[in-house]
Amino acid sequence: MNKKIVLFLFLLSLNINAQKFDGLAETPPMGWNSWNTFGTDINEKLVKDIADQFIELGLKDAGYEYIVLDDGWMSKERDVNGDLVADPIKFPSGMKVLADYIHSKGLKFGLYNCAGSKTCAGYPGSRGHEYQDAKLYASWEVDYLKYDWCNTGKINAESAYITMRDALKAAGRPVVFSICEWGDNEPWKWGKEVGHLWRATGDIINCWDCEIGHGSWSSSGVWTIINMRKDIRESAGPGHWNDFDMMEVGNGMTAAEDRSHFVMWSMLASPLIMGNDLREMSKETLSTLINKEVISVNQDKLGIQGFRFSNENKMEIWIKPLDNNQWALSFVNMSDDAVDFVFDWQKHPLSDDVNGRYLDLNKEVYEVRDLTHHQNLGDTSKKLKAKIASHDVVVVRIGK
Ligand code: GLA
Repeated sequence: MNKKIVLFLFLLSLNINAQKFDGLAETPPMGWNSWNTFGTDINEKLVKDIADQFIELGLKDAGYEYIVLDDGWMSKERDVNGDLVADPIKFPSGMKVLADYIHSKGLKFGLYNCAGSKTCAGYPGSRGHEYQDAKLYASWEVDYLKYDWCNTGKINAESAYITMRDALKAAGRPVVFSICEWGDNEPWKWGKEVGHLWRATGDIINCWDCEIGHGSWSSSGVWTIINMRKDIRESAGPGHWNDFDMMEVGNGMTAAEDRSHFVMWSMLASPLIMGNDLREMSKETLSTLINKEVISVNQDKLGIQGFRFSNENKMEIWIKPLDNNQWALSFVNMSDDAVDFVFDWQKHPLSDDVNGRYLDLNKEVYEVRDLTHHQNLGDTSKKLKAKIASHDVVVVRIGK
């Protein structure tokens, strides 16, 4: 057969069989992203320092793995071959050297680009260059791609993300593909076959419950995001997650609010991507971020996204079925005052119809472990009692 026909059939077969990379992000990805704190003001020294902090502060040990450079890592123009170029002032050694540094610490390296003609901050987008860019990322040994949705005109979102998925697959290096189109085209309906996580909303901002307008778009606080997308839990699971956005822990909310934010992202099985300056965080912020008992709720291998159990009397109660017939329950005090909270296990049968999981604590007695304060609280034969400060949280794991 003519060589050209063989090549054509080979390329066709690649496309017909194209799928996302399997076996990645089996639990929600954990890492750090530059955007929330640094915007486009990023550079090689900063990123290396962040990688060092992963090791020194025990973040790697707690499970954080990906270091992702968001918008602003590139030069404003592609080179003569049409390749993207790392900004030579910000990243004088280039991306491969930076990737090598991150890999040498046992961590993984992520980059950002966009499905449109330009990124949101005006750098070259991947539209029309998808296969070329994917090859370049593979040559730099990129492990994670966040792929945004600015300057996309009227293109179809699902097709645009499929094109990039196929380009990554063709380039051959396994990459976690993070879809970032803000929920506009309901990626929870099609994202499972395309990427490993998808943003469910517009951008997060560091407030408890607010929405701040910026003209044509707005950013949302922690509870605004949760309430906006509390009903899409069925689409989450191992390898495909609803992404409630990079965290604002350590970025100006109170310590109690940060704890609740972190617990809620864990209950929601959202990716845990830190967005603060790891070089300057307080001890309290660090202890929130490396609370391994809370992280274990997020990383539970069943990958079930938790859901609201009730929200009466300004108390948000969420539950999440876990492996080994265990459950996590979180109690967030939404009021402006501390409360003496009491929860009678026997009056609250737990049920998750979507996953066919039920627990009646009249019939069984489970042990109760407080994951915020790292202590055993006895069992479910007696009521749970806790003083919870305003906007603070108690989260427990119950099991036999
Ligand atoms: C969009 C994304 C953000 C960030 C910026 C970068 O707003 O939603 O997370 O990546 O673009 O410009």
